[in-house]
Amino acid sequence: MSPDAHAPLEQPIGVFDSGVGGLTVLEALRRVLPGRDFLYFGDTARVPYGSKPPELVRRFAWEISGFLLRQGAAALVVACNTASSVALDDLRRLGVPVFDVIEPAVAEAARHTHVGVIGTRATVASGAYQARLEARGRRVWALATPLFVPIVEEGLWNDGVAELVARHYLEGAPDELEALILGCTHYPYLKPLLARLRPELRLIDSAEPTARAVAERLGPGPGTGRVVHYVTGDPEAYRALAERLGAGADEVRKVELGAL
Ligand code: DGL
Repeated sequence: MSPDAHAPLEQPIGVFDSGVGGLTVLEALRRVLPGRDFLYFGDTARVPYGSKPPELVRRFAWEISGFLLRQGAAALVVACNTASSVALDDLRRLGVPVFDVIEPAVAEAARHTHVGVIGTRATVASGAYQARLEARGRRVWALATPLFVPIVEEGLWNDGVAELVARHYLEGAPDELEALILGCTHYPYLKPLLARLRPELRLIDSAEPTARAVAERLGPGPGTGRVVHYVTGDPEAYRALAERLGAGADEVRKVELGAL
């Protein structure tokens, strides 16, 4: 049954990221909440966020959240570690439930003593993961691995360039690490490669635990599983990439940055 493009979504959940990374979270949400409608926002004209100043990312997160609320979102999932690490306090003033991707991954990782974290420059510089893990008495090794984001956005996660970059980044990872947090929602697409390079590490990403946290709090919902995708960049390029990532996007709408 094809959705009526004009029918209002039923209390949709708004999910956003700088690009396609948040699709890892969206897909986990759709698995646990098949009866929910979703609005997904990929800020593809302004990706990457991780190398931009925190104040700018805070502004982007605020604008996008306002846009999603105007489209009817009843809750927000910040499916971006960079935005989660710098903008949560602002977004929690919006009066709707707001979910981040950091706390769920920390809760998983806290089962281990020596934990590694890889993420964008902004996420690692914010210390959001390190502070939470160290407060729980864990030993933490953290590294900014920004090149992984364009590798995924360019569709190169299976290419030799991804392996070269991953080897370079993991060179200095201590032998005693037990788990590695993929502290950027783009990184789960690199899981097969990272697992091949460091098979002894438990790779932890936020998608499943975040989806469980949302499902526990919001419940199944009255929708039909419809997803509308909003992008600030080229909708066709986005649709093709989402398809390759196994997150087919039927309804993609272009949003002009001036409309935010
Ligand atoms: N996927 C995002 C994150 O989790 C943003 C990556 C970026 O745009 O630099 O941090």
